[in-house]
Amino acid sequence: MAALAPNSALVFSGRGATGARSLSSRSIAKPVAVNDQSRARKVNVGVRASSAGSIREQASRRAPLEKSTLFNCKYVPFSGDKNETYSIDDVIYRSKNGGLLDVQHDMEALAIYPPEYWKALFDEDIVSMFEGNSNLFWADRYGREVLGMNDLWVKQCGNSHTGSFKDLGMTALVSQVNRMRKQGKPLAAVGCASTGDTSAALSAYAAAAGIPSIVFLPADKISLAQLVQPIANGSLVMSIDTDFDGCMRLIREVTAELPIYLANSLNSLRLEGQKTAAIEILQQFDWHVPDYVIIPGGNLGNVYAFYKGFKMCKELGLVDKLPRMVVAQAHNANPLYRAYTTGFEKFEAIKAEPTFASAIQIGDPVSIDRAIYALKETNGIVEEATEEELMDAAAEADLTGMFNCPHTGVALAALKKLREAQTIGPSDKVVVISTAHGLKFAQSKVAYHAGEIEGIVGKFANPPVEVKEDFGLVMDVLKERLESS
Ligand SMILES: Cc1ncc(COP(=O)(O)O)c(C=O)c1O
Repeated sequence: MAALAPNSALVFSGRGATGARSLSSRSIAKPVAVNDQSRARKVNVGVRASSAGSIREQASRRAPLEKSTLFNCKYVPFSGDKNETYSIDDVIYRSKNGGLLDVQHDMEALAIYPPEYWKALFDEDIVSMFEGNSNLFWADRYGREVLGMNDLWVKQCGNSHTGSFKDLGMTALVSQVNRMRKQGKPLAAVGCASTGDTSAALSAYAAAAGIPSIVFLPADKISLAQLVQPIANGSLVMSIDTDFDGCMRLIREVTAELPIYLANSLNSLRLEGQKTAAIEILQQFDWHVPDYVIIPGGNLGNVYAFYKGFKMCKELGLVDKLPRMVVAQAHNANPLYRAYTTGFEKFEAIKAEPTFASAIQIGDPVSIDRAIYALKETNGIVEEATEEELMDAAAEADLTGMFNCPHTGVALAALKKLREAQTIGPSDKVVVISTAHGLKFAQSKVAYHAGEIEGIVGKFANPPVEVKEDFGLVMDVLKERLESS
């Protein structure tokens, strides 16, 4: 298949195209307080929100990409015999020896075009389907006042259709399923196991395409907002009395028996869409590479997706180095962190304990080999955060204008530790990946501010003050607060 034809999301998803327009309005208004001021100003020049109409116009004007028929990709084993290949149109998730697969692009063909061409393509030509293109928030005040940093950014991947980064992968995967169904492949439905966000994205994209979807969810282990998403989108929702790892085992068995296409990140197509967030970040920085990228990790597909995006840009000459990748795990679900402390000598799956970062409560990550590979290639780091650390980090950063989900809290807590250890310096350029919208996790945030979480003091709790309808009482509260601030 032509990798940049209509399903081009598989390679360079169109969403990156207008990414430069997505710098936060704050950073548009103000020159960025980073090391290189002149460069920072240049990033902001011409950074203006474009209307959906103008994107559509651009799309209709765009001529087919010359030589795009030369582009192709295929599945190869992630490790092992790279001569074993499969068509991207095959329904296949594993290599002959049972290992993971990887999507391999013909880099020589892509390199026909020079880096300037690709940059121009991202900056001007590709048409978006409106996922991605997410805000790269300049965490100016949080960086400066809390961490003593001047170049801290938060990539808001949760500002998306279903409220998490999963939309980026799902557009690629569901587009491909749609294509295969049109080709007559007997795919009755798409299905996934989920900690909440994958199911939300799958159900929405499948519903938009008119494809039946089935989701396996661990009962009582996802947020209410996450649960209602696939219900509203008409999925068959199975709430199963197990954890995510149990749901994953079941969906793999079921998809081996029935013509249901597996949409978990075990399926390497998803990662092709997710890697576009890395390309967007580079574009948003005007092709300057951050020193560190911090990603909350559970099943560990996303860290490899980011690695692939950065690596692709390096291979094509758009940038000349890779960032150090940091995976942040909840202490209660930390199998990668444990392996990291052994220098990756030994990995053991664990039984993950409950965590407020419920979407990463995973003890047996499917993409463990991919993650270790990405970390080794980038001199990466793994850090962990306790429940108190992650909830405090999210709340403290919220006080500077964000609204973080607990997973982003894990990444922020990891950043704090790395900063305290001086591993990350005051002027290092750092991007924290915010993987979901905080509103999906309102329950735990409310509990934090209400002081209802056992064992957590709630250092940054800000409960509402209940006051009777009485002018004097209202004034008393105001005076007390104003005097203490
Ligand atoms: C909000 C959120 N953050 C982080 C992750 C972890 O991504 P991965 O499982 O690819 O490591 C997930 C995955 O479910 C998620 O939903």
